[in-house]
Amino acid sequence: MALGQPPADALAAWYLRRLGRRLHATQRGVPRELVAGLRPVLQAGLAQRERDGGSALETLLVESFQGLTPELGGQADIAVRDAIVDQFHRLYYNDPGTWRNTRWLGVPALKCPLDLWIYQEILEELRPQLIIECGTADGGSAYFLASMCDLLGSGDIVTIDIESKSGRPVHPRITYILGSSVDPEVIAQVRARLPINGNVLVILDSDHRAAHVERELSLYADMVSVGSYLIVEDTCVNNHPVAPEFGPGPWEAVSAFLEGNDQFVVDEGRQKYHLTFNPRGYLRRMSPP
Ligand SMILES: C[S@@+](CC[C@H](N)C(=O)[O-])C[C@H]1O[C@@H](n2cnc3c(N)ncnc32)[C@H](O)[C@@H]1O
Repeated sequence: MALGQPPADALAAWYLRRLGRRLHATQRGVPRELVAGLRPVLQAGLAQRERDGGSALETLLVESFQGLTPELGGQADIAVRDAIVDQFHRLYYNDPGTWRNTRWLGVPALKCPLDLWIYQEILEELRPQLIIECGTADGGSAYFLASMCDLLGSGDIVTIDIESKSGRPVHPRITYILGSSVDPEVIAQVRARLPINGNVLVILDSDHRAAHVERELSLYADMVSVGSYLIVEDTCVNNHPVAPEFGPGPWEAVSAFLEGNDQFVVDEGRQKYHLTFNPRGYLRRMSPP
């Protein structure tokens, strides 16, 4: 191989070796087209400048990114796009300085801001009378919802947690309930607040283990008004595409819930920013029971 000039070439060589091992592991060998495609790059030396000023490595990268979207002038390649989104998702999720270090008006909100923007759009469209949130933590997400309701001029939030943390925001639209989201007494308190008219939105963001989320889905789904949403947070864990060690979580609970359920559908339009912590988690109620 005509690889020289580290570190770009060293990196590329390492990557090609890894790719080779992976392809070898599939027992399908290295596809002929890939070998043919890479030969000129290897012959040119990856970092070596070509006559047009770009290196072979740059050309290789630019060509792969052209497949991301037709707007970049290439043919959309879903596999390339999904791989890049997944890798960015892993970077964002595992970096301690991102969602663990996100605040709304100074209060920690354990959310991806792209999802909060989706929340804002849903709230503007639906103008819910009541928002039910399972899982309060520091109250940052409830505070965000209350601020949006202030801007819209309507809506109350009831948020439930087994822990009572000090320093949570005090806001006239927010009611805190202490207890488990699946406790019958808590359910009764929530039901007593359901409006006669107007939209109800439910957000499940408490214990993310599949059995708990399934239980929440069975208890809260009928509180969601037709046309509104049941948002299941953190469907991304258990390798969808992060936290592979988690075990069955919200994603698996949603799959079980949707089996044979014709009232709710996954609204993929809410995944429009590519990165969401809630893939297949924006469930829209389409019909009454
Ligand atoms: C992911 S955090 C909530 C984050 C918050 N919604 C936000 O975005 O800032 C999960 C919370 O669920 C709470 N929790 C765990 N099990 C619960 C249960 N059975 N019922 C209600 N809350 C529970 C935990 O105490 C924790 O505060």
